[in-house]
Amino acid sequence: MSMIEKLGLAALHRLDPEHAHDLSIRALRTGLVPMPGGPVTSPRLRTTLAGIDMPNPVGLAAGYDKNGKVIGPLMKSGFGFIEIGAATPRPQPGNPKPRLFRLTGDRAIINRFGFNNEGMEAIVERLRARPAGIPVGLNLGANKDSADRADDYAKVLRLAADTADFVTVNVSSPNTEKLRDLQGSDALAALLRHVLQTRDTVRAGLPVLLKIAPDLSDAEIEQIAGVATDCGVDAIIATNTTLSRDGIADAQASQAGGLSGQPLFDRSTRVLARLYRQTGGRLPLIGVGGISSPEDLWQKIRAGASAVQIYSALIYQGMSLAPQLAQSLDLRLEAEGTTLAELTGSGVDDWG
Ligand SMILES: Cc1cc2nc3c(=O)[nH]c(=O)nc-3n(C[C@H](O)[C@H](O)[C@H](O)COP(=O)(O)O)c2cc1C
Repeated sequence: MSMIEKLGLAALHRLDPEHAHDLSIRALRTGLVPMPGGPVTSPRLRTTLAGIDMPNPVGLAAGYDKNGKVIGPLMKSGFGFIEIGAATPRPQPGNPKPRLFRLTGDRAIINRFGFNNEGMEAIVERLRARPAGIPVGLNLGANKDSADRADDYAKVLRLAADTADFVTVNVSSPNTEKLRDLQGSDALAALLRHVLQTRDTVRAGLPVLLKIAPDLSDAEIEQIAGVATDCGVDAIIATNTTLSRDGIADAQASQAGGLSGQPLFDRSTRVLARLYRQTGGRLPLIGVGGISSPEDLWQKIRAGASAVQIYSALIYQGMSLAPQLAQSLDLRLEAEGTTLAELTGSGVDDWG
């Protein structure tokens, strides 16, 4: 981390977390954040996941650039791919503030934003206007007061289909009441069939990813893997934030919402490994949850990830973490004489 980044982070951490987040977006927009200028890449890092060509496998997770306001700068920040959103059909304000909390000692975040966003029209317009570069996906959400949530995902997909490089069906946010019920077998199968049929009519071949929660039993993970495979989902993102507060020391642990960051690492990696075993490595998996170091990244891939995403660690370590992670992965792959494909899932048995 450079001195400028250190000072910038220290200043942001003195502010209310949501205000700090908004300021970081503004700083990116105005070009105040030093950027590597493009993705870190090499033949070892380059990969194709579900038909998505990535210069490196380190992506930005959904929820940082919810409204697609800084797609251009983020595309130059060293990531191999980014995901914006969640976008819902209609704009909605989300939950009352405060709704974002830094649990600094735990290196964790709690959020209960509740899909605050400017709505699909504004977001997809920005997506369409982005420069050429790395793949950009859109996280699909449902309006809180929707009469047909399954159709909300299809609506956003339909609008974004001609421009998104992939879309993610996010049924795992804990901050929209009953949303996670869509992970149940029957509801999930119906939802995925509707979304995938819509995809086939508007843009066959557009990768549709499914993002799941970390708070699932082994039986539920097995069911989801089965439904996702049967329906023909292109990849699974594991995982979203957790409702668990296991091992959290911070007094803000009692805040309602989803917890992310370092304490999520083990839980989300166990779900990832379970999914990898269930799908026999045939369905590509993106590992997300608690990655904050090169070693975490390495272990996530060993547990079954073909690519990863990060978010909370950026709040504590700054945007320079993305290129650092990608570079260190490249060096270690070279040093250990292995490839990304060989590494993926090679340590699945460490996770029970
Ligand atoms: C403030 C905040 C907002 C988020 N919003 C979304 C969202 O809109 N859609 C989504 O799928 N995940 C969302 N997430 C979850 C992240 O994409 C990611 O799955 C989770 O934070 C775990 O990764 P991390 O430990 O690296 O942060 C959000 C996370 C945070 C911290």
